Amino acid sequence: MEVVIAPGAELARIAADAIEALLRARPTAVLGLATGSSPLAVYDELARRHTEQGLSFARARAFMLDEYVGLPAEHPERYRNVIEKEIASRVDFAPGAVQGPDGLADDVIAACADYERAITDAGGVDLQILGIGTDGHVAFNEPGSSLASRTRIKTLTRQTREDNARFFDDDITQVPEHCLTQGLATIMAARHLVLLATGRGKAEAVHQLVEGPVSAMWPATVLQHHPHVTVLVDDAAASRL
Ligand code: GLP
Repeated sequence: MEVVIAPGAELARIAADAIEALLRARPTAVLGLATGSSPLAVYDELARRHTEQGLSFARARAFMLDEYVGLPAEHPERYRNVIEKEIASRVDFAPGAVQGPDGLADDVIAACADYERAITDAGGVDLQILGIGTDGHVAFNEPGSSLASRTRIKTLTRQTREDNARFFDDDITQVPEHCLTQGLATIMAARHLVLLATGRGKAEAVHQLVEGPVSAMWPATVLQHHPHVTVLVDDAAASRL
């Protein structure tokens, strides 16, 4: 695990550099996209490089980490719409090249199996962007998640629903109770993991991620077993290291 401590803007550039290097070496690369506030500066930087430097995503594909269950198709906080707004619509992905778990499927179990198959059929994820929850969750793998888990339906914790209420008019009752999420084993199958965390609120989670014992109670700690992880943190998020 490589840990880089730098100011936020620098972290976004480092992550964008890794994605750019991958796309220039392999234009058909498969990217893993995350929602949350942590990757937003990376997406801004990629959009800028697309516009100003011709960085192309035209032959690339991308898979999202997770999705709320049951949010209406046009809801702005549906992760499919968030990813479309924050990155997909700002670069030149081909139609259909960005996929996510189907949180509106009638048969969510089949939808999760289909999603796992789609990732495998694409050849797996080359570079996965990750954030981390204050409770150490990655994607929506909450504390207690099996370290061997695959894409499945999960119940969100009270903590995560409180953390995410800021996207729902600060009203926790509007935050969905369930989600579909790639499992920890799904994420671990990506060839390079790039995790971003900023701010003091993430300090304990980052401490556990880097220095804690591997435990389902801090799901991100499973990343210690991955051969190629880059952890990008600012001073505040690194304050407990
Ligand atoms: C959400 C997402 C995660 C994200 C986490 C942290 O619950 N499902 O993928 O990493 O929250 O979000 P943020 O980056 O906004 O702190």
